[in-house]
Amino acid sequence: MAKLLGIDIGTSGCKVLLIDENGTVLAQASAEYPLSVPQPLWSEQNPEDWWAAVQKCLAEIDEPNPDAIGLTGQMHGSVFLDADDNVVRPAILWNDQRTAAECDEIDAAVGKARVREITGNPPLTGFQLPKLLWLRNNELSAFQRVRSVLLPKDYIRFKLTGVRASEVSDASGTGIFDVQNRRWSDEMFSALELDPSLFPIVVESDEVTGTTTDGHAVSAGIPVVGGGGDQAAGAVGTGTVDPGIVSVSLGTSGVVFCSLTAPQVDPEGAVHTFCHANRAWHAMGVMLSCGGALRWARDVLFPGLTYDEIAALAETAPPGAEGLTFVPYLTGERSPHNDPNARACFAGLTLAHGRGHLARAVFEGITFGLLDSLDVLRRLGAAAGEVRITSGGARSEFWGQLIADVFGVPVIRLANDEGPAFGAAILAGVGTGVWPDVSSACRATVHLAGKVEPSGADYSGAVERYRALYVATREWNREIAS
Ligand code: XUL
Repeated sequence: MAKLLGIDIGTSGCKVLLIDENGTVLAQASAEYPLSVPQPLWSEQNPEDWWAAVQKCLAEIDEPNPDAIGLTGQMHGSVFLDADDNVVRPAILWNDQRTAAECDEIDAAVGKARVREITGNPPLTGFQLPKLLWLRNNELSAFQRVRSVLLPKDYIRFKLTGVRASEVSDASGTGIFDVQNRRWSDEMFSALELDPSLFPIVVESDEVTGTTTDGHAVSAGIPVVGGGGDQAAGAVGTGTVDPGIVSVSLGTSGVVFCSLTAPQVDPEGAVHTFCHANRAWHAMGVMLSCGGALRWARDVLFPGLTYDEIAALAETAPPGAEGLTFVPYLTGERSPHNDPNARACFAGLTLAHGRGHLARAVFEGITFGLLDSLDVLRRLGAAAGEVRITSGGARSEFWGQLIADVFGVPVIRLANDEGPAFGAAILAGVGTGVWPDVSSACRATVHLAGKVEPSGADYSGAVERYRALYVATREWNREIAS
């Protein structure tokens, strides 16, 4: 039976997972690395720290001969290498906000509508392309030394195989990739006067990009497949690869994700449209304050309580929290508003409201935010027949029922919830012929654990209040921010 290795370069650390053809986890290891914030809203890491962590994990797993390796990791980041393949400066990460001027520069050079047509998305500060332009505008001597730009997981591929390659799902998050035609955009290279040879070759996520070289904790000659950005690989790990399945990741941020058979783009840019790792496309809404808002509520409103105790409190209040509404945009919001000035608030408080109402309003507000993303995906043609929940929040019985009720579809839990490294290992198997395609690989490895049916509770009035509250406070928040 094949042994497949998945490597995930996360933001807080790396995770390496070894699975077999049934999806059983045979071994796993993880290692953390630091994140540096040299200025407010900047976010950087040293790519050599990622590589050291990968080597440590591979040594711990101690399997020199896996049948194949798949890579995944934080998306959008930029690794700048010089002519000797040394790192020119620390990598700038997905959650770095320094590039607002460069996003405007991209719109001006390429044309606002054309950028969205080519890349399927507006230029966003977190994407890779504006970071390269920032380097040209702000650190010219460093820019002049750059000979290649890689995404985080592709730097690890380069260290393992010596090959400079990316794959379509992660390349989609650079902001210079033609998502419909699954290739770099020559038109954008020339509009922005960038040398295309700075960028790696791009393959499909299940194609082999090369084999390991000598000198690592795995033997030489092991095939390394494309893999995927953490969201696409995570979706493979939950089996979100066929129409009719939507996954909801309940982590610090919340992601509502569906596979698409064609590259449908939301004209408002409320969700991202990227190439998926299954040779099709996907759309996803990314909500910045999901589990993060719950953590804030725990620390500030319910100190000393566990998440389960907060959920038990929430259950003591009726659906709709008797008119109490919480908007969770504690760090601005990406989907569906793309509004960095958005703020959180409670509205509708009376003396009749207790802690149970507050707790319920927090869970409901976050879930209504996820529904906003689902509604955009539905507009794009996603048939959400069921929703698979994953990440930390998926363990809550209460939250699972609430999602089923608010979304109006059954919620499914997964037997193994190992995150993107699991999907990367599955892609490694597809790339080396263990399975003929990603869908059959998911059928063999992704196992469902239980189903929660909607109870019939009606949240329509509460959802309307929630949406009206964002609109009512938008200008107010813009003024506070200015
Ligand atoms: C996706 C996104 C995050 C990062 C870090 O668009 O920004 O998922 O990939 O995890």
